[in-house]
Amino acid sequence: VTRPRILTGDTPTGRLHIGHWVGSLENRVRLQDSYDCYFLLANVHAFTTRAEQPGDIRRDTIEIARDWLAAGIDPERSTLVVQSEIPAIAELTWFFAMLIPYTRVMRNPTLKAELAAKDLGDHYSFGFPLYTVGQCADILAFRAQLVPVGDDQSAHIEMCREVARRFDHVYCGVPPTTLDDDYEKAGGIFPIPKALLGRVARLPGIDGVQKMSKSLDNAIFLSDTTEQILARMKRLHTGRQAMTDPGDPNNALFQYARAFMADQERVSELADRYARGDNIGDASIKAEVAAAIDALVAPMRERRASYTEARIVEILREHARRANTVAEETLAMAKEAMHLDFGRRTLA
Ligand code: TRP
Repeated sequence: VTRPRILTGDTPTGRLHIGHWVGSLENRVRLQDSYDCYFLLANVHAFTTRAEQPGDIRRDTIEIARDWLAAGIDPERSTLVVQSEIPAIAELTWFFAMLIPYTRVMRNPTLKAELAAKDLGDHYSFGFPLYTVGQCADILAFRAQLVPVGDDQSAHIEMCREVARRFDHVYCGVPPTTLDDDYEKAGGIFPIPKALLGRVARLPGIDGVQKMSKSLDNAIFLSDTTEQILARMKRLHTGRQAMTDPGDPNNALFQYARAFMADQERVSELADRYARGDNIGDASIKAEVAAAIDALVAPMRERRASYTEARIVEILREHARRANTVAEETLAMAKEAMHLDFGRRTLA
C-alpha cells in the first residue's frame, strides 16, 4: 500500500523557534506514520535574497536539518530533500512558469508582503518572484496531497493548486469542472494539494506584539538551553505593573500558556485570576510557562547532540537519491504529457 504524500519545507534562513513548532513542525512530526513524508530544505530559494552568501546558506541548511532531526523528524521514516539536488524541480519550475500569468504571480499577497517587509523596492532579483513558481514545483514534483505549513504560506499553496489544475487541464485533458479531489481519477498527473495549517497561526514574539521571528530578535529557539528559555521569558513584555493590576488574559504570555502548558485547566484558572488582578504576578506565570516550553524542548536537546554534521550530510546524500526516484518519475510523466517525449534519462 502506498501512503498519501506530504511535501513541505523551510527556507534555510536561521534556526527554528517555538513559533515554527506550533505553526507546522509538530504536524510534520505527528504525520510521519500516516503519510509518506518529504521535507524540503529550500536552499535554492535562499539564494533569491542572499546570492552573495553561499557559505551562510550552506550552514543554515545543515542547521535546519539538525533542528528537524532534533524535533523528531525520523530519517528512517521520512525523506529529507535538499532542493538543489533535485533537477526535476528546476525543470518543472520552467514548465509551470508558462502556465501562470506574470501578473498573477505579482499579485501573490505573501510575495507582496515580503517585498514590502524587506524593503526591496524594485531592486529584487528576477529569481525572487520566481521562487513562488518554484514552490509549486517543489510540491508537485512529489505529487503531494497535503502540505503542512504556517498560515503565511497559504497564498503559495493556493497558487500551487491553480498551477496543478491548469497543467492537468491543458496537458492531461482533465475538464476544468472536475472536483479538486478527483483530478487524478480524471487522468491528471497532479493531485490538487491541500494546505494543513498549524494549531496556532501566529505566535507573538517576546516583545509581546510582533510575530515571533529570528530577524526581530524576539524568538525562543528549539535549540535554547533551560537558562536561555527562562531568561527570554523574563524579558517577555506584558506592560503590566502590579500583582493587583487586572491583566489581559489573551496577551502573549497567555498565548504561550495556551500553546505549551499541558494542564489547560490550570491555564484557565490562572487567566481568571490574572484578568481580575487577584494578587498574581507575571513572574510566577512566566516561570510555569518557561518550564512547559523547556519540557517540550528537552528531548530535542538530547536528540540534537546525537547528530554530527558529517552524519547529517550523509543523510542528505542518501535521501536525495530516494527523493529523485519520485521527482524523476513525475518529470517523465509531465514531459510525456507535454509531448516532450524525446528521451528518458536515469540519474545515477
Ligand atoms: N517558502 C517556504 C518558507 O519560506 C519554504 C518552502 C519552499 C516550502 N518550498 C516549499 C513550504 C514547498 C511548503 C512547500 O517557509
